[in-house]
Amino acid sequence: MSAPAPDPAPALAATLVAPARPRLSPRQSAMLAEMGVRPWWQTAAKAAPGPTAAAPAPARRAEPAARAAAAPALPVAATSSAPATAALAPHTRPAFPATAPAPDWDALEQQIRDCQRCPLGAQRQCAVPGMGDRRPDWLLVGEAPGEEEDRQGLPFVGRAGQLLDRMLAALQLQREQRVYIANVIKCRPPQNRNPAADEIAHCTPYLLRQVDLLQPKIVLALGRFAAQTLLAEGGCLSAEALRELPLGKLRGRVYQARLAGRVLPLVVTYHPAYLLRSPADKARAWADLCLAAEALEQSPSP
Ligand code: URA
Repeated sequence: MSAPAPDPAPALAATLVAPARPRLSPRQSAMLAEMGVRPWWQTAAKAAPGPTAAAPAPARRAEPAARAAAAPALPVAATSSAPATAALAPHTRPAFPATAPAPDWDALEQQIRDCQRCPLGAQRQCAVPGMGDRRPDWLLVGEAPGEEEDRQGLPFVGRAGQLLDRMLAALQLQREQRVYIANVIKCRPPQNRNPAADEIAHCTPYLLRQVDLLQPKIVLALGRFAAQTLLAEGGCLSAEALRELPLGKLRGRVYQARLAGRVLPLVVTYHPAYLLRSPADKARAWADLCLAAEALEQSPSP
């Protein structure tokens, strides 16, 4: 008896429902494998049960409205960002003096390198203003410099940074092209402890000025401190919600954050250092990146 002919239906179904597939380089495929994520078209081809069944919706293809409906309702900040921010960081926050002109890039970086607004200034080797394309599509915001970043004065150059680079590569991005990488706080906290509320409060004006200068099209908040700071500043969620919700409940949606006088799409995802410890969440991080890429595609061109 001859073997039955292979059933073409799954492949056909995948062809019928699949939108254009990104062409992945071997490096990108390796990245997805490294993240433990199958490209959505492979998942679709494998899972499609027959010619009439739609492939399972990958994160990238989900309709924004459907996604919004699926996401749990979260309390929105009642007014502007100010109450949420103040509640999160109740310390006085020195902004740039209203009378002085807002610093340009050189002045801003110099101010960050000279900054003594909080005790971290006396302990650092190097302040880490940020790096990348100064007219980026993407602004990635991490938490704070670690040991290696403190030594080099550059963001995300340790192990977490290597993973971040691979995540960017999977999106066909590089940290110098279309991407700027910054942190919420610009100096390393001792022993890599969490940033304190007053440190965040002192550093936030620097980040907001960076947003103002960069005018990114999409903001990706990496981890809890970036998410809390940007969502509070952006007037997206109430201070109470931000205090109570774990990061997993903040991700999975596109926020509209009012930052530096503009409304910007903002997506929250896991911090790469967390992903190194919890690789099972890499698939969710990949879905967040796809969500952000989709939001970027939909953002109006200037
Ligand atoms: N973690 C961060 O949040 N930022 C860095 O620059 C490095 C590690």
